[in-house]
Amino acid sequence: PTSDRWSAVDAYLTSTLVTHDDALTASIDSLTEEGMPEIEVSPLTGKLLHLLARLAGAHRVLEIGTLGAYSTIWLARALPDGGRVVTIEAEPHNAAVARRNLERAGVADRVEVREGRGEDVLPTLSGTEPFDFVFIDADKESNTLYLDWAARLGRPGTVVVVDNIVRSGHVVETDAGAQIDGVRAGLEMLQGDPRFDATALQTLDRKGWDGIAIALLV
Ligand code: DHB
Ligand code: MG
Repeated sequence: PTSDRWSAVDAYLTSTLVTHDDALTASIDSLTEEGMPEIEVSPLTGKLLHLLARLAGAHRVLEIGTLGAYSTIWLARALPDGGRVVTIEAEPHNAAVARRNLERAGVADRVEVREGRGEDVLPTLSGTEPFDFVFIDADKESNTLYLDWAARLGRPGTVVVVDNIVRSGHVVETDAGAQIDGVRAGLEMLQGDPRFDATALQTLDRKGWDGIAIALLV
């Protein structure tokens, strides 16, 4: 099938199944307006994250890589009263834009944007209540570090999702650079580390050909 056909399917599925309010749309528009990379998850994936968090009965969600908070809004809206998202963003400008977008979406009271690199912020979350759902969507070189923290900060039954595990098919290459090496190391960890049980899905959407891994902490 040609790419215009799968783009048409993506547009059809999105318009049929995903309702966007102004705040979600504005969080996407803000990426362009603020000169940020336009790499937010697709609407169908945003809603998948939302539904997975609800299926998991998540009260506490950890996100690594906030960008403009598009996925964060989807996750925050999956929570029951009293639920909380902690989202980590290394880039101060992104964190500022994310906070504005969370305010506009009416979820700022349930989301904590922690500014800093994952490797510095994650250790500070030790000793808190375990997270029920973790979304890893930051620098791919650190995926194994983030998975290790997801396992430490979660509990048996915690759902862990990793974005960008196909990267236009580059995931099958062993010499495609540090990001792909990081993606592959993460996938191998999901198989080899007994704390996880995992599978993966390829996706074809407005972000092209990519995919997510979905894991359960055992
Ligand atoms: C990139 C990062 C992402 O998280 C994504 O969803 C798409 C692309 C990137 O670094 O190119
Ligand atoms: Mg991503």
